[in-house]
Amino acid sequence: MCGIVAYIGHREAYPIIIKGLKRLEYRGYDSAGVALLTPEKSLNIYKKTGKVSDLEAETSDKDVHAFTGMGHTRWATHGEPNDRNAHPHLSQNKEFAIIHNGIIENYASLKKALQERGHEFKSDTDTEVLVHLIEEVHQKNKVTLEEAVRMSLTQVIGAYAIVILSKSDPNYLIGARKGSPMVVGIGEGEHFIASDATPIVEYTKNVVYLNDGEIVIIDNNKLTIKTIDNTIKTPYIQELEINLESIERGGFEHFMLKEIYEQPRSILDSFRGRTHINEGNIAMAGIDLFEDKLKNCKRIIIVGCGTSWHAGLVGEYLFEDFARIPVEVEYASEFRYRNPVLDESDFVIAISQSGETADTLAALELAKSKGATIFGVCNVVGSSIPRITDAGAYTHAGPEIGVASTKAFTAQVTALLLMALSVAQKRGAISTQRMRELLIELETIPSKIEETLKLDDSIKKIAEEIKESRNALYLGRGYGFPIALEGALKLKEISYIHAEGYPAAEMKHGPIALIDEEMPVVVIATQHSYYEKVISNIQEVKARKGKVIAIATQGDEHIAQNADYVIYIPQCEEAMLPLVASIPLQLLSYHIAVMRGCNVDQPRNLAKSVTVE
Ligand code: G6P
Repeated sequence: MCGIVAYIGHREAYPIIIKGLKRLEYRGYDSAGVALLTPEKSLNIYKKTGKVSDLEAETSDKDVHAFTGMGHTRWATHGEPNDRNAHPHLSQNKEFAIIHNGIIENYASLKKALQERGHEFKSDTDTEVLVHLIEEVHQKNKVTLEEAVRMSLTQVIGAYAIVILSKSDPNYLIGARKGSPMVVGIGEGEHFIASDATPIVEYTKNVVYLNDGEIVIIDNNKLTIKTIDNTIKTPYIQELEINLESIERGGFEHFMLKEIYEQPRSILDSFRGRTHINEGNIAMAGIDLFEDKLKNCKRIIIVGCGTSWHAGLVGEYLFEDFARIPVEVEYASEFRYRNPVLDESDFVIAISQSGETADTLAALELAKSKGATIFGVCNVVGSSIPRITDAGAYTHAGPEIGVASTKAFTAQVTALLLMALSVAQKRGAISTQRMRELLIELETIPSKIEETLKLDDSIKKIAEEIKESRNALYLGRGYGFPIALEGALKLKEISYIHAEGYPAAEMKHGPIALIDEEMPVVVIATQHSYYEKVISNIQEVKARKGKVIAIATQGDEHIAQNADYVIYIPQCEEAMLPLVASIPLQLLSYHIAVMRGCNVDQPRNLAKSVTVE
């Protein structure tokens, strides 16, 4: 949610910032801006509604020479997306510029007080209030900028990642974080500050992830990290695991398509090194530490948002099927504001691609405060959720840039499958023989996905037939139900067609009223537990002239009599169905969105990493 990138060093800052903003654009893309501080101490600010490319066009004839600068790509919260509200924002005396990701919750009262003291605001944002506050504290108390930032932040309620530069000092940059991610890149005679590592990886692999409540000061190429209350911290320098290739499109038209096609590898990476077929066991170091506690675990609660919540639903089936533990799956945003009944015997698993989703993070903090053991299933290494959990599993899917989640979902499901099996084994709920069978089957999944990806052209033809629809229904039972929910979410996110996922049998309690010849109904109808029942549901749709697109098991000839279109996927274990059956649904949504001229990688109003609640 909002991307920030800043540079200070010996190179031209502008191209680094623009490239960085493009890499961060998945975080928000309604407006963008840069502040460039020339060695002669003039501060040039350019801002533009729209994409980073619009900003680039805007600055094509402008002076962009600077060795210090910062840029921002916005996902509007306070104030509509327009040039005025785009970041950076300036202090009243035009001495300080700020970029901000997050929400200053008490901005209204701060703003009122500042206005009463003569401050005039040019935007509707909460961010501008913060930079005015810093200016006031700086002037009134005759303190350094660093002290002014620290003092001001103690008055702020909310979440932020901010970078501030001062017109009078081109060798100085200061950043701070609370609740929004921030990473500092350390190069040779240069430093970078960004929302995530993608703008940095091209220049250096050495990074420091800032913790909540910390500030970073770069002063004449010297890096200092402190807490807001002025305690110096020793920077923990980590080596980045991502490489440049993984954050570029690599010949694909869109990141989403690239990421769909990466799934044979990303799923393999999720289980590689964790499965031991001969011994029939799974090694998950973090989880193994909790063996004794897991043996007596009475309940698991899974929290997440969006696609990660759907992965959580699959997790519910997996833990119940294999480990025989009751599971509740909660929207993190609801869970955190209820008064959930939790104690030390509970396990709470947070699922999050980014590891930064504000609601998921807050739900975990709540669970932790009530004594529960907290686990995480996250993709971004070093992100906030893995840093507060007792244990967890990285999904190892590699950077996911497309806003609509694809490979992160299947990697989450893979990690949850391994967790469920590992817990099942610890509790003696599964035989070694059955474990072996499942692990052998898991090894075949990447090639089954390869095979499914070959259906791309035929899926494109189906997309052509239904691309003008205004609504779509997705139905499934058992493991097919979360797949239906995820399929519907993919379609609505990127093509703006209204789509709903439903348990197939529940259809007759409402959605059936919507079915007519205009309504495509995608049904997960593979030859698993509920096959016959799903066929009956398909007939109910056909009887009302709905257009049925069935996801079926290879070799099932019977289904062709009932469905208008059939997408045949390879036979697989029922518990692994979400891994295979999600692929054609991702492709279907992708092609429909492309045919409708939608911006697949950056759908309107959405952002990949939602760091505000
Ligand atoms: C946003 C993204 C979704 C994602 C959700 C949860 O809405 O657009 O793709 O599923 O956030 O994000 P997380 O990073 O916690 O998985």
